[in-house]
Amino acid sequence: MSETGRELADPIEENRALHETESKIAIAGHPLHAMLVAFPIALTMSVLGADLLYWWSGDEFWARAAGWASFGAFMMGVVAGITGTIELLIVRGIRNRSASWTHFILAVMLLSLMGMNWAWRIGNHVEAVLPVGLILSLAAAVLTAITGWHGGKLVFDYQIGTKPSK
Ligand code: HEM
Repeated sequence: MSETGRELADPIEENRALHETESKIAIAGHPLHAMLVAFPIALTMSVLGADLLYWWSGDEFWARAAGWASFGAFMMGVVAGITGTIELLIVRGIRNRSASWTHFILAVMLLSLMGMNWAWRIGNHVEAVLPVGLILSLAAAVLTAITGWHGGKLVFDYQIGTKPSK
């Protein structure tokens, strides 16, 4: 009971449609998006690691490794983003939650940054690293951590993508 003596309304409890959050882009109930996001997350962190190793050692191998990792991060990020976007658009309980759209906006900003980090290195992977490549890698790593943390929040706090228990 509230101080005014009236029950506080819980929009989630009041609207049963918000409970329909079960993933549809899934294999045997396991969301494809959750399986795929590991790749852009790990590859984005790898680009930062390779950039730092190039800065520290001057070995061009690391600049080349960073170039390929940035390509992989962007491509796998797009693939993961496509599965997430289909889920967002077709599942009513996911589409109706503002937190899902917050995650979408963060992810689109991240994908733009990943794309920029790759495009900047094309044909010029050694000179591209210092300082612009490294700055882009650092920004992408920070935004990946925020987006990934928020994606986890969708699942673990709001049960988005999960099957409701009866
Ligand atoms: C581009 C648009 C994207 C959309 C619309 C989207 C949407 C979603 C949705 C609906 C979920 C809940 C689980 C599910 O239903 O699959 C989720 C979870 C998640 N997302 Fe995204 N996502 C996008 C991109 C990304 C990207 C680029 C990353 C990489 C950082 C990411 C990281 C995560 C993580 C870590 C989870 C939690 C997975 C788990 O622990 O089960 N998402 N996302």
